[in-house]
Amino acid sequence: MNGEGDSASVKVALLGYGTVGTEVARLLHEHAADFTARAGASIELAGVAVRRPDKHPDVPAELLTSDATALVESDVDIVVEMIGGIEPARTLLLNALRAGKSVVTANKALLAEHGAELFAAADTSGADLYFEAAVAGAIPLLRPLRESLAGDRITRVMGIVNGTTNYILSAMDSTGAGYSETLEEASRLGYAEADPTADVDGFDAASKAAILASLAFHTRVSAADVHREGISEVSSSDIAAAKALDRTVKLLAICERVNGAEGGEAVSVRVHPVMLPRRHPLSSVDGAFNAVYVEAEAAGQLMFYGQGAGGAPTASAVLGDLIAVARNRVAGGRGPRESAYAALPVRPFAETCTRYHISLDVADRAGVLSQVAAAFAAHDVSIAAVRQRGRNQDASLVVVTHAATDAALRSTVDEIAKLDAVHEVVSVMRVEGGEP
Ligand code: HSE
Repeated sequence: MNGEGDSASVKVALLGYGTVGTEVARLLHEHAADFTARAGASIELAGVAVRRPDKHPDVPAELLTSDATALVESDVDIVVEMIGGIEPARTLLLNALRAGKSVVTANKALLAEHGAELFAAADTSGADLYFEAAVAGAIPLLRPLRESLAGDRITRVMGIVNGTTNYILSAMDSTGAGYSETLEEASRLGYAEADPTADVDGFDAASKAAILASLAFHTRVSAADVHREGISEVSSSDIAAAKALDRTVKLLAICERVNGAEGGEAVSVRVHPVMLPRRHPLSSVDGAFNAVYVEAEAAGQLMFYGQGAGGAPTASAVLGDLIAVARNRVAGGRGPRESAYAALPVRPFAETCTRYHISLDVADRAGVLSQVAAAFAAHDVSIAAVRQRGRNQDASLVVVTHAATDAALRSTVDEIAKLDAVHEVVSVMRVEGGEP
């Protein structure tokens, strides 16, 4: 903090000046008077660290630097990190926190992989570490989990936290097109990155799931604890099979409080495609939007919805954090610390029980259904519903199961695939929300 009383100011360093950084700087400038009134101190942009200062003629030259380390070490009070990735962001933020500078970051991968050491550094120096923009962009979600629901017991957090994959799945649902051509179209329209791996393979959603589970259950969950499946295996047959059951396919991050070993509690954290009933609130979340559904013992069901990415929406979350952190500095205190006291174990995915939808092409003759049913019974997977539709000599057979472990289901499908009467296992997908 620089100065006293009305002349107090907080100096801010921006690390990174991409889509989000540009919007943060623009809004800081445009709403300077309001932000000063809200924070109780003027928020002064002290420097912007970028890789190539010559590429940013819109930023006053005296603010630009390519030396992020020196900017963090200068007399700034708050460091706002929008570089992304692990290094150099990790080292820069650790240095800032160790020096007592508060940090606002949108870096989900860094928090999900190195959250423990960042929180420890913040605790040691008494600095703030805020990261609302790291999950679901503009949607106020982390502060409700960390603060508003601190008096409740959250049992489940389930959401669409990746806009790219939601855009692709929504488009596949409405056009009937396959995954590859829809991804190509999404890239052409700018909805998917040139390298879409982090999004389509579920890494981005897994980092966000780790952050959500940590906050919701007061425990520490890292990216490596999250079971992750992306959407590249979702076919137009899967989408059609879901449609036939009045369901839609979504990539969900699911964080649950579950029974652990020896009667204790554990958490299950996973990201994978699921079939959801069309009447489920998450089914109507289309395109690049995000939505997160929270279940808490006292509050009941809550839903958070909005834009999960983009310059201005993400800047809204960054600036909310920046003002909160500035207020804390003006008050001479800090915001909530990490709450990981529950130290819950993470249940292995193979032990996680979910329901499955299995679609088969089979020969339409006596005894086939009983062979298929016998394979389910042999692996202790209970069938909840069976639908059959005949097609000349063949039939399409859809089986929806009760909850079973992933291990049991995999063994069942392997056995079914070997039956002479089964021409093809068309689709295997997990099912959430409501009975079949
Ligand atoms: N790439 C993310 C998405 C946005 O597609 O939702 C940033 O987290």
